[in-house]
Amino acid sequence: MAVHLLDTQYDADSYQKYRFPPSENLQSVIFSYLEEKKVDPVRLAVDVGCGSGQSTHVLAAHFEKVVGTDISEAQIEAAKQAASFPNVTYHVCPAEELPFEDGSVDLITAFTAAHWFDMPRFMKEVDRVLKPHGCVALSTYTTDFSMHYKDCSERLTEIFTETRDLLLKYSDEKVNLVIAEYKEVFESVPFPDKKRVTQILDKIPMSVSGVIGLFQSFSMYQAFLRSDPEAAKSLLQKTEQRFLETMGVCSNETQALEEIKDPLAHRRLQRLDHIWNMQ
Ligand SMILES: C[S@@+](CC[C@H](N)C(=O)[O-])C[C@H]1O[C@@H](n2cnc3c(N)ncnc32)[C@H](O)[C@@H]1O
Repeated sequence: MAVHLLDTQYDADSYQKYRFPPSENLQSVIFSYLEEKKVDPVRLAVDVGCGSGQSTHVLAAHFEKVVGTDISEAQIEAAKQAASFPNVTYHVCPAEELPFEDGSVDLITAFTAAHWFDMPRFMKEVDRVLKPHGCVALSTYTTDFSMHYKDCSERLTEIFTETRDLLLKYSDEKVNLVIAEYKEVFESVPFPDKKRVTQILDKIPMSVSGVIGLFQSFSMYQAFLRSDPEAAKSLLQKTEQRFLETMGVCSNETQALEEIKDPLAHRRLQRLDHIWNMQ
């Protein structure tokens, strides 16, 4: 039942098309931390709540073996269909019941996923499966960002924010953890050696259709769509129209967002890296 519910919360196709991998900046925060904590050898990394696998791929070059896990069968199916790396495999399972032996994992990551987990149970699993000097990195991007295009950046950002605010009414209460920048998630980490990193900025060039697709991939948009399909579709049509009019262009493939900061477009990877060392 849980799998079914979560499968309806996300649109795996939108994920595959419109979500992006962790930025170079975020990756560098994570890998420098591993170096600092001397996590070596780097045999096994597990990306929990991996969705359709974009985040899992970035681990492939750094570990002998990488396993992406997700509770959603649809997401794992999409991850398996995507081009990947020979050392990456996927598995359907809840974050709270990881199929790994005690003390066998070097790094656990959860990119924009930990707010969905039952944190006390997940943390118990993390504690069980990590090697003594293993690390865990929990991160998220916020919904607070700006769009940039010629001289209408401010107006585009306002339009984005207005649509985001309308969608927030349909968000699950767990999304509040993201809005609060994972503060509570960080506090719920029981290990003494932990570190919170905020304000990791990123810039991602995107087309207008990419931004609209990103909205479609949000669980809050999927909730709106289930509740009132016509109104949900109309909101995004109007949003796209407003973007195009503001920019003075006709094509939604226009690279609207030359410099976006914050999560989404140029996403501000507010990935609150609760990276910590176990010992
Ligand atoms: C917002 S998506 C993030 C996907 C991916 N990590 C990324 O960065 O694009 C959150 C993912 O967490 C998964 N998820 C939610 N609750 C979960 C749980 N209890 N155990 C495992 N996965 C879960 C969802 O199915 C979804 O694929």
